[in-house]
Amino acid sequence: MTIEARHKIGHYVKLIMDEVFGRDRFRNDITRIKCNPKNFHRKGYGNIKDLILFYSKTATPTWNDPRLSFSEDDEERLFKKLDKNGRRYTTIPLHAPGETSQGNTSKEWKGINPPKGRHWRTDPAILEEWDKQGLIEWSVNGVPRKKIFLDERNGKKMQDIWEFKDPQYPQYPTEKSLELLKFIVQASSNEGDLVLDCFAGSGTTLVAAHTLNRNWIGIDKSEPAIQVIKKRLNDLPSHLFSTIEYEFLKG
Ligand SMILES: C[S@@+](CC[C@H](N)C(=O)[O-])C[C@H]1O[C@@H](n2cnc3c(N)ncnc32)[C@H](O)[C@@H]1O
Repeated sequence: MTIEARHKIGHYVKLIMDEVFGRDRFRNDITRIKCNPKNFHRKGYGNIKDLILFYSKTATPTWNDPRLSFSEDDEERLFKKLDKNGRRYTTIPLHAPGETSQGNTSKEWKGINPPKGRHWRTDPAILEEWDKQGLIEWSVNGVPRKKIFLDERNGKKMQDIWEFKDPQYPQYPTEKSLELLKFIVQASSNEGDLVLDCFAGSGTTLVAAHTLNRNWIGIDKSEPAIQVIKKRLNDLPSHLFSTIEYEFLKG
């Protein structure tokens, strides 16, 4: 579950969330860049970020591990080398920190021992296989490194600083970026799951859930909010993209 809080209250909300979900269910605090830099006339730095607190209800939540595509700049920076077939790649050490006294990963391979305090990333039998397949690059000094090909990587892992700017002409004062909410719903639920937004506001979470074929419940006490939500949902070409049906209930 994700809760968003304005920068002035985020730390207090964290304590409440810890009490509700348990401290061990806390997964991330995400910094979300929400707008362009502003020139405030007050003593202090401009505020362009929100805090998103990410908790899960259980220890094994749904997690679809969203990946980001590499930009052209990333590709050239992170995968600098080209092999003879023009495939872009980089190399990483064959060993990792930590010494093992047991197991094959501490043993000699091709007359080389892992450096002190480190062990081979995998069994020397597999290193041998990688070498036969041309997956190991040997430096002029005889140091082996593993090749990592760009076309075998599924993009890069999303980190905890995000940029999703809110709409410049919102239909409701607190309206959030639809792309942001779609990203969160996709990461932490599957089609047919149930998404709850108990402070629905502009209904962006509900629109995101609806278009992604999730069931949803939205709650808000404000009549203007309900009017905006109704309009946004009615404007969706729901018969084309979603099988989710909904009705409005009044308390
Ligand atoms: C910060 S806004 C929601 C932001 C929302 N994520 C969006 O994209 O617009 C908070 C909403 O909670 C509603 N709200 C506040 N207290 C409430 C309560 N006790 N019960 C139901 N809704 C409430 C307000 O009417 C407001 O629309």
